[in-house]
Amino acid sequence: MAKKILLLPGDGIGPEIVTQAHKILAALQDTGLDVDIRQADVGGVAYDHSGSPLPDDTLRLAQEADAVLLGAVGGYKWDDLPVADKPEKALLRLRSELQLFSNLRPAILYPQLADASTLKPEVVTGLDLMIVRELTGGIYFGQPRGIEETASGERRGFNTLVYSESEIERICRSAFSIARKRSGRVCSVDKANVLEVSILWREVANRVAGDYPDIELTHMYVDNAAMQLVKAPKQFDVIVTSNMFGDILSDTAAMLTGSIGMLPSASLAADGKGMYEPIHGSAPDMAGQDQANPLATILSVAMMLRYTLSRTDFADQIEHAVASVLDQGFRTADIYTGSGTELGTGAMGDAVLAALP
Ligand code: IPM
Ligand code: MG
Repeated sequence: MAKKILLLPGDGIGPEIVTQAHKILAALQDTGLDVDIRQADVGGVAYDHSGSPLPDDTLRLAQEADAVLLGAVGGYKWDDLPVADKPEKALLRLRSELQLFSNLRPAILYPQLADASTLKPEVVTGLDLMIVRELTGGIYFGQPRGIEETASGERRGFNTLVYSESEIERICRSAFSIARKRSGRVCSVDKANVLEVSILWREVANRVAGDYPDIELTHMYVDNAAMQLVKAPKQFDVIVTSNMFGDILSDTAAMLTGSIGMLPSASLAADGKGMYEPIHGSAPDMAGQDQANPLATILSVAMMLRYTLSRTDFADQIEHAVASVLDQGFRTADIYTGSGTELGTGAMGDAVLAALP
């Protein structure tokens, strides 16, 4: 039976980049990929059309889908809305409603783009790490939370950092299974010198590691991990960490590659269903100008084929096609460093299409 894919282009450059990814999916349909593709509104554009950043219809289609491809959400226009109506809320609700607890954020340095990194080539050449970020718990979702007035009339903001053993266990298992297909090394990042949550995190990680004797598990405090990522990033293979630490460290890891426009991500549920998105944002200043890099979104389709649709053959085809356009010297503005041919969003999508077998 055809697998169901839902496209959620969203805001800013989202529609342009998802259009390119759609072209690739359509081409694969012609060569035997059996998928049914739908599309819906999400984020600011959904708020404008229906008063909610995640309309019920969109949520239902996402629940019915095997895989969701999301462009990006957010923009200045919606910055002053109450938290519950903000475009970002749609993303957080989708993660939570679809139980996408395991967020895979690879950071790979394409050898063709080594000069795009702000770090010295010897520090980043050959970089290939995977951040496994817990995505549906921790301080992002912990209760109680809010802003309240104290007896003295001063306001007080508060959030709750909380993880249960089962939440820690499942994200560790996810990381260990991924490490098995890589070099077998996992570094768990926490703040166990200060936080009780992290002490529990470390204990559970060590216990679960007992089931994976082939995996080498190490631990690192998050402040040191931030430093090590820019000092000697190649020491890492798989990093597993909590929601907020993963949010921060994955942006750092992305910039090691010099090109946030190149990096895809996958957010997976226990049953293998998932949401796939480029890790860059909606870049409202660039929207509608045919300047955005569609490669992260196209590579997100490759991750979708690999992790949810189990079509490694097609995933490989896309990844080879992207490598081939880089070899041919094609660059969008964000990765252009003076040589090669600069292309717009649409032309880059066409170049990938042309490089498919
Ligand atoms: C990310 C983003 C989101 C997050 C925002 C947009 C809610 O920064 O996916 O990393 O903090 O998770
Ligand atoms: Mg982030």
